[in-house]
Amino acid sequence: MSFGLGHGVPLDPAPGVVAISADELPPLPDSIISDPESGRLDPRAWFKEPGNRFELEIGSGKGAFLVQQADLEPNTNFLGIEWAGEFAAYTSDRIRRRQENANTHRNVRVMHSDAAQFLQWRCPDNIIDVLHLYFSDPWPKTKHHKKRVIQHQTMFDIWRCLKPGGELRVVTDHDDLWAWDEAHFEHWASDKNASEPTLAGPKIPEAPAKVRAFLDAREALPYERTSFAAPESAGEHELVGTNFERKFRKEGRSFNAGVLRKTGGTAN
Ligand SMILES: C[S@@+](CC[C@H](N)C(=O)[O-])C[C@H]1O[C@@H](n2cnc3c(N)ncnc32)[C@H](O)[C@@H]1O
Repeated sequence: MSFGLGHGVPLDPAPGVVAISADELPPLPDSIISDPESGRLDPRAWFKEPGNRFELEIGSGKGAFLVQQADLEPNTNFLGIEWAGEFAAYTSDRIRRRQENANTHRNVRVMHSDAAQFLQWRCPDNIIDVLHLYFSDPWPKTKHHKKRVIQHQTMFDIWRCLKPGGELRVVTDHDDLWAWDEAHFEHWASDKNASEPTLAGPKIPEAPAKVRAFLDAREALPYERTSFAAPESAGEHELVGTNFERKFRKEGRSFNAGVLRKTGGTAN
């Protein structure tokens, strides 16, 4: 199905320049079966200035947040991960044109992929300063809840990939999704034992065995809750200023926002 995002003009995602190319992200090696870490590679190497701050957006959609914020922060590298191919191509094309016309946005790359899979199998430990998750798909039917981005496995992988002091920033308009997110956050940012059921809110799946063992063995809380502060690019009365926020705001919807900070340090 095409969304017609190119309006009849072919999109050019500029692989290797904006879109992450197959050379930059080769297939997972067979050794992944015996060595789950053998597929790791450092995404910061995909940028011209690999030593800069590194932020990642899950579900970058049409790229409004990336375009706005990367313009204000040229010394931060931004990677947008988007699993809908046409949206990934649209955002890449948008960035490519800015690079060619104004020589800006050299600090943005876009990957067409499932971000949860990328975090679990590819991303090394302690490299991300901020992970942005805005207006994530709510998948309202129970049989689809497993497709929601926030799961115990993803909470573990986000924790592992964030630098100490790094942040997961979340905004959603969807109350059921927020309750689901909060039920997970309770296990990661409060003293609740991983095996204890959540008292209020929805029933959520148990953590996979390895993640549960991590939660049960931990000596300190993996994350601490902190309040959400709008990024510089957000407009007046906006939390972030993404396409979905602007659309939903016109419809009069209300939003929930929160931040989890990885404990054990301060990212800079
Ligand atoms: C509702 S849209 C929001 C887009 C944008 N963040 C905004 O606020 O305008 C959610 C986007 O997340 C993408 N998405 C959902 N799950 C994803 C995943 N696991 N990895 C990457 N992208 C994902 C969807 O394809 C969709 O484009």
